[in-house]
Amino acid sequence: MRAIVDRLREKHELAAEEYRALLTTRNPRDADYLISQARELAQRQFGKGIFLRGLIELTNVCRNDCLYCGIRRSNCNVSRYTLSSKQVLDCCETGYSIGFRTFVLQGGEWGEDRSDWIAGLISEMRHRWPDCAITLSLGEHSRETYALWRDAGADRYLLRHETHNRQLYSLLHPSVMSHAHRLQCLDWLKELGYQVGTGIMVGAPFQTIGSIVEDIVYLVDFKPHMIGLGPFIPHHDTPLGRFPAGSVELTARLYAILRLALPQALIPSTTAMASLASGGRLRGILAGANVVMPNLSPADTRQDYALYDNKASYGTESAQGVRLLAEELATIGYHIDWSRGDSPSLSRPNL
Ligand code: 5AD
Repeated sequence: MRAIVDRLREKHELAAEEYRALLTTRNPRDADYLISQARELAQRQFGKGIFLRGLIELTNVCRNDCLYCGIRRSNCNVSRYTLSSKQVLDCCETGYSIGFRTFVLQGGEWGEDRSDWIAGLISEMRHRWPDCAITLSLGEHSRETYALWRDAGADRYLLRHETHNRQLYSLLHPSVMSHAHRLQCLDWLKELGYQVGTGIMVGAPFQTIGSIVEDIVYLVDFKPHMIGLGPFIPHHDTPLGRFPAGSVELTARLYAILRLALPQALIPSTTAMASLASGGRLRGILAGANVVMPNLSPADTRQDYALYDNKASYGTESAQGVRLLAEELATIGYHIDWSRGDSPSLSRPNL
């Protein structure tokens, strides 16, 4: 098993059966070796600095009905909100004064009729904070909309592919959503010059080790700049609300495999990791993750952006809690890196 880990570190690619062996090994020493190799490689790339992204949850209004997601259209128990431009800009202002240099606008998926409003907001952010990166995480849109937002000044886009297995995709999503279109969106985003992030939920209902292997093969081929992975956590008001949560351990193992496969990738230790287990976020970092995304949203809307039950959004998870976060990172010898944190694979930062 060690030889497989060493080869992954050296060649950045393995055969499908070898990924499976790494994901399923029950030998704790092999698992530790995998994780420690990934940690060491991450430190070689990024030192012990962790990049921050300020997350602004723009809206919980969504036209989609994904079967796992708490803000799905058919959940009538959600009180729906959309932040005003002023609220978003105030969040950025607060974030900038704390030291954030990346803002992530995340939200449910709207129709294209709101694209111009978002473009205006991006232009305003670009104008007011020219030294900051603007990341969008607003779902599937037309190529024209992605181009409009890119021209307005957006630099990065996060859109998890959720699964590369078509059959699993159709079990997790309503039939009107198309797996092919999601992959098409990712290709468009790359063509338009965004730094692109994609990824999956680990331990999603009906997911198998085989489908995770397919995801790894896809990610190694697609080479995203960023990889978003978190454990599935049930939301009680969804059709999949009775399925068990995924595991922090398997997610950390996947961080490690992907760190070794894509040494330059920006990999957040996600909120779902922190929500599922205390110390979950640190376990992600010790397995090769190098980004944390604290919540910059207004305090009174946070509880309404509940993608899953018991989602962490205060304390070290909040932008106001960065001091706590710094203390938590210090316990494992890490610190906050306050730079914009662009992908090292870009020769020129995209200002
Ligand atoms: N558990 C974990 N992650 C979830 N997401 C949505 N619902 C859940 C859930 N129940 C993730 C999806 C989506 C991202 C914004 O949040 O992967 O792409």
